[in-house]
Amino acid sequence: MNKEELIGIAIEARNLAYVPYSHFKVGAALLTKDGRVYKGANIENASYGLCMCGERNAIYHAYMNGVKKEDIAGLAIVADSEDPCSPCGACRQVIHELLPADTPIYLSNLKGDVKVTCPAELLPFAFDGKDL
Ligand code: THU
Repeated sequence: MNKEELIGIAIEARNLAYVPYSHFKVGAALLTKDGRVYKGANIENASYGLCMCGERNAIYHAYMNGVKKEDIAGLAIVADSEDPCSPCGACRQVIHELLPADTPIYLSNLKGDVKVTCPAELLPFAFDGKDL
């Protein structure tokens, strides 16, 4: 699957967002090396701190289907943003722990802009379990 197809699935996922507070829909799609795709979208709550981002939902969705870190081949994230949608700090920490450091991550928007990055670039000098 190419990055345009993965971004297309993230756009589909975005339509499932539950965003009554921010009205800012984020979709994500995680690709495995054997071609499976797991979708996520942001799900908000009146208790704002409980809001869950689209990319974390996609990653957790994959893990809940048995996907392991080493199985992951890519992650697409899309929003209706001016620039390609960039993950928040909490998501960067989760991405660091659950995706291989060199996984291609496609940040995009509905205009078709795409920025390709990876976990190591999104969160340099990360805190992780080996520091405990
Ligand atoms: N959001 C995401 O889903 N992913 C990001 O990378 C940035 C922010 C969500 C959280 C909240 O539901 C809304 O966008 C506004 O912050």
